[in-house]
Amino acid sequence: MAKKFYVTTPIYYVNALPHIGHASTTIATDALARYHKLLGERTYFLTGTDEHGSTVAEAAEKAGKSPRKYVDEVTRKYRKTWPKLNIEYDYFIRTTDPKHEKLVQEFITKIYKKGDIYKGRYEGLYCIGCEKFLTESDLVEGKCPLHPNRKPEKQSEENYFFKLKKYQPLLIKALENKSDPRHYEIYPRERYNEVIKTLKGGIEDTSISRAKVEWGIPLPWDKKQTIYVWIDALLNYITALKITGNQWAWPAEVHVIAKDILWFHCIIWQALLISAGIKLPKKIFVHSYYTIDGRKMSKSVGNVISVDDLVKRYGADGARYLILSTFPASSDGDVGYSKFDIKYNADLANGLGNLVARVAKLCEKSGFDFKPTKSQLYPQIKKPLGQFQFEETLGFIWQKKIAAGDKLVDQEKPWELSGKKLETVLKKLVKEIRQISFNLQPFLPKTAEKIEKQFAGPKIKSEKPLFPRL
Ligand code: MSP
Repeated sequence: MAKKFYVTTPIYYVNALPHIGHASTTIATDALARYHKLLGERTYFLTGTDEHGSTVAEAAEKAGKSPRKYVDEVTRKYRKTWPKLNIEYDYFIRTTDPKHEKLVQEFITKIYKKGDIYKGRYEGLYCIGCEKFLTESDLVEGKCPLHPNRKPEKQSEENYFFKLKKYQPLLIKALENKSDPRHYEIYPRERYNEVIKTLKGGIEDTSISRAKVEWGIPLPWDKKQTIYVWIDALLNYITALKITGNQWAWPAEVHVIAKDILWFHCIIWQALLISAGIKLPKKIFVHSYYTIDGRKMSKSVGNVISVDDLVKRYGADGARYLILSTFPASSDGDVGYSKFDIKYNADLANGLGNLVARVAKLCEKSGFDFKPTKSQLYPQIKKPLGQFQFEETLGFIWQKKIAAGDKLVDQEKPWELSGKKLETVLKKLVKEIRQISFNLQPFLPKTAEKIEKQFAGPKIKSEKPLFPRL
């Protein structure tokens, strides 16, 4: 039986439109899905939108719309955005789908009946931006470091609690012990260490319902409460498979997320799954943040780079390349239009675009016939991709393969050659270019397709530049 590969993005809040941050996660996930498909695995790629909770309700109110109307509008925009970046997901889940809502209620009832949920009182500082209670140690100068413009609110209410603490030893064991049946991995190492440290420092039970948030899924046994939006959201990874009849895909091979939602994915989600007797995902890849020209991206600074802007300026594959080749893995990555422009011109307009154009022109002029050649994935990209190192992977293709093609052209000077000698050099170059485009499929899918068509042979002709210079 073919290996399977189930990969997910976080489901994004519909209180804002997709920007480069959301795009980075989704593009990385898409590249992984495409790579594993190329390996012949049975692949499933899930994304979607997180539509409940007070952040969303608040955004709807600001927009002067009912939550229902508001979420329908924003989620439509999300769906329209992803194809602009050549994203090909298998399913787009919405947490306001009644089928999802019902499955969430069933799940929560199951662990309630098991005795893992009890009623208690919560008192603490709540950050609406994060949709979570903060502890003293989370605060920086009395404010949430991620949402410094929103004052954390004192909240006190009766909630239902999940017995998270009970799962602490099991989680530590699952992480540390490779032969544990529940073993799961967190990449990169820095994030793994963070999770282990948090777990060993001791964790408390966590509230899973809200008394004052109306825009949510009612708690089945106490309709005055709604299910905490984060519990509702995490469950999407499983409900989507049930809704579409794709249970074969569970457990996920990889959940791709960023560091802001580490706690929910690496601790709460895993404990909920253990409680419900469901297998744990294999890996969680936690990337870092983009900053823009040295500053945190935010509406108030006015430096948000939207997906539409990126695509307008660099094209879909251009944007994919710029994001993946500057991917913020272990630490935050700083980008901006001026840096992107330079990289675009150097690596795409020159680099790849130039090599392809030069060789095509020489082939056209030569009039030779070019027979098909066999391409395969470079073995060297297996390791970096296995560790979610997109920068290294593309770096290899550009610095080792594209640069080698350029060097070959410069050294052999095909324009000074003719006859058999010219044919040998061009054949070699054509083979290399086909090989490069084959390997670009997961990252620059439309570009790879274009090159493949152009270089299919027997005749090879000049075409429009792949990446017009800015
Ligand atoms: N709805 C929750 C996730 C629920 S998953 C069960 C949520 N949504 S979000 O819209 O805020 O998206 C957060 C994610 O967006 C991050 O984890 C990351 O993938 C991406 N990013 C948002 N801003 C980012 C940057 N500045 N840089 C890189 N990625 C960022 O949290």
